[in-house]
Amino acid sequence: MKRYFLTIFICVMATAVFAGSHGKVTYQDHIRPLMESQCFACHGDHAPTLEEFDADQERYENRNLGPRMTTYEETKVFVTGEDAGAMMRRLDDGSNTADGNPGNMYEYLGRTEEDRQQNLSIFKEWVGHWTLKRSNELTDEDMQKFSIPE
Ligand code: HEC
Repeated sequence: MKRYFLTIFICVMATAVFAGSHGKVTYQDHIRPLMESQCFACHGDHAPTLEEFDADQERYENRNLGPRMTTYEETKVFVTGEDAGAMMRRLDDGSNTADGNPGNMYEYLGRTEEDRQQNLSIFKEWVGHWTLKRSNELTDEDMQKFSIPE
């Protein structure tokens, strides 16, 4: 009887590990292609670096340009780096915001509500810990929960 349970346990674990690795959302395979189609119009190669953007925010905003986010390193800054949490606050659909309004980049996630929800769930899975806290509010515990695989 004991062996029977052990066999079931091993099968369940093996399935979980398989499903986990199989469906894993990574930057290279999922996030970058998604951002290329939805975000690079304003955050692509022609966009300023975050440093340039911060130095002259108004000028870039008038040209509808946000900080460049074309690499893993540049993108990570808005999840766990200098501007931690910005990605989640901007992309949230309103279910986690104080005023119930979506973040101002949510609309760019897709053409239809269905597309936006689907792409939001890809981002959520990639981030691994969806919190709208600001960088100075994030605890060590929060930081450990972010996954953002490359
Ligand atoms: C039509 C242009 C446009 C598109 C498309 C766009 N953005 Fe933006 N984004 C901006 C501009 C301009 C800013 C800076 C102004 C602001 O903060 O709202 C910005 C700011 C941001 C910020 C905050 C940056 C910071 O300095 O904290 C994040 C994060 C972001 N965008 C993510 C995205 C993501 C992810 C997508 C794609 C799903 C996207 N944006 C699509 C124009 C755009």
